[in-house]
Amino acid sequence: MTETWLVTGGAGYIGAHVVRSLQAAGAEAVVIDDLSTGDLRRVEVPFVQADIADCELVADTLRRHRITGVVHLAADKQVEESMREPLTYYRRNVVNLMQLLTAMAQCEVDKLVFSSSAAVYGMVDSAQVREDHPTRPINPYGETKLVGEWLIRDQARATGLRYAALRYFNVAGTAAPELGDLGRTNLVPMVFDALARGEQPVIFGGQHPTPDGTCVRDFIHVQDLADAHVAAIAALDEPGAGHVFNVGCGRGYSVREVIEMVAEVSGRGITPRVGAARPGDPAMVVADTTHINATLGWRARHDLREMVNSAWRAQPRQLSAVRT
Ligand SMILES: NC(=O)c1ccc[n+]([C@@H]2O[C@H](COP(=O)([O-])OP(=O)(O)OC[C@H]3O[C@@H](n4cnc5c(N)ncnc54)[C@H](O)[C@@H]3O)[C@@H](O)[C@H]2O)c1
Repeated sequence: MTETWLVTGGAGYIGAHVVRSLQAAGAEAVVIDDLSTGDLRRVEVPFVQADIADCELVADTLRRHRITGVVHLAADKQVEESMREPLTYYRRNVVNLMQLLTAMAQCEVDKLVFSSSAAVYGMVDSAQVREDHPTRPINPYGETKLVGEWLIRDQARATGLRYAALRYFNVAGTAAPELGDLGRTNLVPMVFDALARGEQPVIFGGQHPTPDGTCVRDFIHVQDLADAHVAAIAALDEPGAGHVFNVGCGRGYSVREVIEMVAEVSGRGITPRVGAARPGDPAMVVADTTHINATLGWRARHDLREMVNSAWRAQPRQLSAVRT
């Protein structure tokens, strides 16, 4: 029988890619999304517009669609906002997860893939971060993701829930123009946004202990990330499965390198302005991907050029059409 997966937040940037990867792997998907940041035009599968806080409605959806498992992406994700509104973040990222786990337990749905984040690590003290690196998140957003991992682990111990928590690194690119990132918080869209306003992008800090002085991050193509969910789902057939995986490329790109790639792909002359470093911004955060490579046989296939190029092609016409 074909498996049917419930994708919470499936109208969002990453969730819409996950739906497509599930379909490509022969599974069916149902999306539940409150459209707080999502876009209904991304959804081409059965859709329930709801806040996942609504436990009864989630349970009804699980039963009605005979759901095999849940990919849980629905969350708020803005670091700055989380510092201003911690209660909102704990409610929407932690309390809502409790509601979802309650509905899953009621309906005996026992497989879960959880969107976690490299934000759980906070300040890192090694060139590449393994999953067993100490987790010391430095903002409420990262804390809610870490608490989410703990909640899921404890529920798994108590009930036999099988799970994989995926710690995404910096997500970029798109598999199709209509699925592009509409947010403006990640580096590549932020640079595009500056260009659209006729401004130069700002680099936060040029004196970090890195080869070119700018921060180094691990960028992962959203298509590769979506495929990692399918690989993680396959691992949940194993009874007692409980995994935490880094999902990144395993190599770092500096902020300056990313901006240079945008300049190359867009044909725009870009002269970034170097501003003050942001307090608490780690110089370098790069995934050690040994665990996911070895356990799931998954590895990233797309490089930075493909990420920037696909994102650029998904830009509104007025921006990408202007070549200087
Ligand atoms: N984009 C990144 O770089 C990144 C990095 C690490 C982790 N993540 C995590 O990945 C997940 C998806 O991120 P994204 O970039 O696709 O963001 P997004 O904002 O595009 O998608 C989130 C989706 O969840 C929906 N949603 C939010 N709260 C909801 C609720 N209570 N009930 C129902 N739907 C709700 C939104 O409407 C949206 O469609 C999030 O959990 C985020 O924390 C993202």
